[in-house]
Amino acid sequence: MSRLVVVSNRVAAVKQSRPGAEGGLAVAVRAALRARGGIWFGWSGKVLERDYGQPTLTQAGKITYATIDMTQRDYDEYYVGFANSTLWPLFHYRLDLAEFAQRTWAGYQRVNTLFAHRLQPMLEDTDVVWVHDYHFLLLAEILRSAGCKQKMGFFLHIPWPSLEVLLALPQHREIVKALCAYDLLGFQTVDHLHCFQDYIRREAGGEIGDDGTIKVFGRALKAQAFPIGIDTEMFAQMAVESEDSKQVHRLLESLGKRDLMIGVDRLDYSKGLIKRVEAFEHLLAAYPDNRGKVVFLQINPPSRSDVADYIDMKRELEATAGHVNGTFAEYDWMPIRYLNKSFSRRVLSGFFRVSRVGLVTPLRDGMNLVAKEFVAAQSEKDPGVLVLSRFAGAARELDGALIVNPYDVEGVAERMQEALTMPLGARQERWRSMYKSIAENDVTAWRENFLQTLQKSGRTR
Ligand code: UDP
Ligand code: G6P
Repeated sequence: MSRLVVVSNRVAAVKQSRPGAEGGLAVAVRAALRARGGIWFGWSGKVLERDYGQPTLTQAGKITYATIDMTQRDYDEYYVGFANSTLWPLFHYRLDLAEFAQRTWAGYQRVNTLFAHRLQPMLEDTDVVWVHDYHFLLLAEILRSAGCKQKMGFFLHIPWPSLEVLLALPQHREIVKALCAYDLLGFQTVDHLHCFQDYIRREAGGEIGDDGTIKVFGRALKAQAFPIGIDTEMFAQMAVESEDSKQVHRLLESLGKRDLMIGVDRLDYSKGLIKRVEAFEHLLAAYPDNRGKVVFLQINPPSRSDVADYIDMKRELEATAGHVNGTFAEYDWMPIRYLNKSFSRRVLSGFFRVSRVGLVTPLRDGMNLVAKEFVAAQSEKDPGVLVLSRFAGAARELDGALIVNPYDVEGVAERMQEALTMPLGARQERWRSMYKSIAENDVTAWRENFLQTLQKSGRTR
C-alpha cells in the first residue's frame, strides 16, 4: 500500500485539548488518517513575523504531523484575504461579500508555491498525495511543474458554485486549469460535480466521458462525487456514553420538562444563523403554546474572527437573539441560549441525544457533518427530528429529515412546529432511513472510495 500524504490548511490539533472550531475538514481527515496512517501536512495555526522554517514533525499514533507557521503577511493576504474573503463567500453564493484584489490573489499564489516547495522534499516517488479544500487549488500544478509525478487527488469540502457565479471570479480560468493538474477531483455532491462539468463544457471547451473522465487544457483527469461521511458507529456509541455525563445531567436538570431544540455551527454567515433565530421567533409568535415549553440551544464557536464579515454577522446575530429573548423571555424561562464557545464532540453527542429537534439550516454548505452527527446520536426508542436545509449537501442523503428552504422564515417555523409535535412512529421511521444511509456511507467508505478511485486513475502525463 502506498504511503498517504494529506495536505490541508487546517490540521487538527495533535492533542484535542481545545476542541471545537476546527470544522468538518479536520474532523473527517483525522478520522480517515487515524485508520490508514500517513503524513498530514499543513499550517501550524501560528502566525509569526519571520519567514517559514522547515516543517515541524510530530508523531501521534499512525499519523505524522508536519506543520509550518505562516507570516503575518501571508496570513492576511492568503488566509484572511483570498481564501476567506474571496473564495469562501463566492463558493457559498455570497457575491455581495466577495472581495477581489490582485494583492490577495498574489498572496494566494505565493503561499500555494511555498507549501508546494516545503512539501516536495518530503515526498517519495510512490506516495499518494491527497489535497483538501479551497486553500490549495493550485498545489498540484505547482508540484507538477517542479517535476512531481505522484498520484494527486483533490477533495473540495465546500460547494462548487454554478457557472454564472464562478464567472464572477476574475481568476476562474487560471484556477480551473490548475485544478486539472490533479488526477482526481472529488466533490461533496453530484450537484457540485455537475456545476464543475458545466464549466468544463461551456466555458473551457472540454469533453466529459461517460465514466467521468475529463479532457481539457491538454490534460485528462477524473471528477466524481464522494459525499463525505462520519464515523457513525463510533459517534453513536459516544452519544450513548455521553448521555450519562455530568454535562448532560446538568443540561437536563436546567431544562426540566421543556423540549430542547439544538443548533451547532461555527459562527459563519453561510450557516443561516440569523434566519434561524428569526424562524424561531416566528414559531413563538405563531404557536404560543411553545412559550415556556421549548428551549433553543445555539452553540456557535467563534471562527475566522479576523475577517470583517464575520465580526459584522456576530453583532447582528447577537442583536437578533437578544431581541427575541427580550420579547418572549419570562422570569423563569429564556427561549434562546446562545453560546459563543466550543464543546468537544463527546459532549455534543450527548446534547444531540437528548434534543427533540436538530436545526441545521445553512444558506449553503458543502455537506454539514453536524446533520449526520445529530442523526447518529439519536436513540432508536425515542429519536429526535432533524430540520435540514435543502442547500446543505447532506440533504441529498438525509431524506428522512424535514427539508426546508432556510430563506423562508415562516416555512422553517412551520417545520419546527411539525418536528416538535411529530408522533413517535413517524420519528422512528424517518430516523431509521437516515441512520441506514449514514451507517453505509461512513467516513471509512468515503476514504476508501476516494483513494481506490485515485489509485485506479490513469497517470495524466
Ligand atoms: N464541532 C465541535 N465542537 C463545537 C462545534 C462543532 O467539535 O463546538 C464539530 C462538529 O461536531 C462537526 C464539525 O465541528 O464535526 C463541523 O463540521 P460541519 O461539516 O458541520 O461544518 P464546518 O464547520 O465544516 O463548516
Ligand atoms: C470548513 C472548511 C475547512 C476549514 C473549517 C474551519 O470546514 O471547509 O477547510 O478548515 O471550515 O475553518 P478555518 O478557517 O478555521 O480552518
